[in-house]
Amino acid sequence: MAILPIVEVPDPRLRQISQPVEGVDDDLRRLIDDMFETMYAAPGIGLAAIQVGVPKRVLVIDLQEPEEEGGDPVRDPRVFVNPEIVAESDNEVPYNEGCLSVPDQYAEVDRPDRIRARWLDRDGVAHDEEIDGLLAVCLQHEMDHLNGILFIDHLSRLKREMLLKKLTKQRREQGKRAA
Ligand code: NI
Repeated sequence: MAILPIVEVPDPRLRQISQPVEGVDDDLRRLIDDMFETMYAAPGIGLAAIQVGVPKRVLVIDLQEPEEEGGDPVRDPRVFVNPEIVAESDNEVPYNEGCLSVPDQYAEVDRPDRIRARWLDRDGVAHDEEIDGLLAVCLQHEMDHLNGILFIDHLSRLKREMLLKKLTKQRREQGKRAA
């Protein structure tokens, strides 16, 4: 397995539309393993293939939610190949989202609190399930990546520009420290 470099804004690859996977094979599983390793190392709870520069409709998610509050994170890796949302609730809830491609920036985004989704897992087995809670938020965020959409696109223009300015400033300061 390998930790892959994460593509960050304003890299135009993040705006690409990812292509459907034609078959779940060992090459794809290798990519999935690398995506998990990259996500855990970052650390993050979700990663789309395009975030490591691969324009395929593949996502990995691990909410790493502890079984009890304050407990150790428990790994719960989930793979979504060719995911589709087939239904969503009218009720939207806000969640303070971040993204490994927009490092250290967070903002509240409203999304449907419950969705029904279809996808294939790492063995190519089809799933059709209702999803809610943080997994629903995360899956919708990651699915946006497959269509070239970032969470900052859901913000007002003013908020988005402020957030990107903060990121630029932060990068400049990190560059100075490194120099
Ligand atoms: Ni993201």
